[in-house]
Amino acid sequence: MSAPAVISLRGVEKSFGDLRVLRGVDLDVPRGTIFALLGSNGAGKTTLVRILSTLLRADAGAAAVAGREVASDPAGVREEISLTGQFAAVDEVLTGRENLALVARLRHLRNPGAVADALLGRFSLTDAGARAAGTYSGGMRRRLDIAMSLVGDPRVIFLDEPTTGLDPEARREVWDTVRSLADGGTTVLLTTQYLDEAERLADRIAILHEGRILVEGTLDELKALLPPARVEYVEKQPSLEDVFLALTGPSTTSGSGS
Ligand SMILES: Nc1ncnc2c1ncn2[C@@H]1O[C@H](COP(=O)(O)OP(=O)(O)OP(=O)(O)O)[C@@H](O)[C@H]1O
Ligand SMILES: [Mg+2]
Repeated sequence: MSAPAVISLRGVEKSFGDLRVLRGVDLDVPRGTIFALLGSNGAGKTTLVRILSTLLRADAGAAAVAGREVASDPAGVREEISLTGQFAAVDEVLTGRENLALVARLRHLRNPGAVADALLGRFSLTDAGARAAGTYSGGMRRRLDIAMSLVGDPRVIFLDEPTTGLDPEARREVWDTVRSLADGGTTVLLTTQYLDEAERLADRIAILHEGRILVEGTLDELKALLPPARVEYVEKQPSLEDVFLALTGPSTTSGSGS
């Protein structure tokens, strides 16, 4: 892959007290790709996203987004990015259009109403635009949330668990949205718990485990890390889940969890 890296990390470390969450993370995300960061609960995915989006300072190492250093030029980085956190930033009392126009005003764009209308159209929300966002379905709300993060045309977007809690149809809507962003040249770094999401959506996948990037590559490259299935009656390709579990070890979670 020869596309220049839009996001790059070298030796990034971050601890919270005695807890060494990131222990030297190296990563390159090529322009225009959908890049999925996988890892168990508490692996440090959100921490990494917060460092890249300048909400948190790394203890050591270097991180750059669109050629700007996160540590020395946080304002420059913020001009290039947007962050959609796990919990929707949508104001439920406002309409979809008002939510978008509000963000456009906060970003000092010249014609907030026109910006809002364009994004409503792009996200198939034109008909719902005049309705309070509190009446939207989960999938619509998530699309509005992503639309809000696109106000001002950021070159890089961070999506922290974009489809958590959505039903399969709404997830597919969000996937289509994310795919069309990347097709338009936006670089997307997303975190996910859903291995099928990474399998379906991501151009490249990295697994964060015990503070480091354990593996990084395309789905095919990751699958090739496991020995081919022994042929008995049928040959079974390993799923991304097989790769993930083989590399990170058996889950130690007790109870049902999420
Ligand atoms: N501000 C903080 N203060 C103390 N500990 C923190 C802080 N932020 C995160 N942590 C801890 O760092 C570890 C990594 O957290 P992080 O939120 O990055 O994980 P994650 O991979 O996003 O997990 P999840 O899949 O559950 O979202 C966790 O053990 C968490 O409790
Ligand atoms: Mg998280």
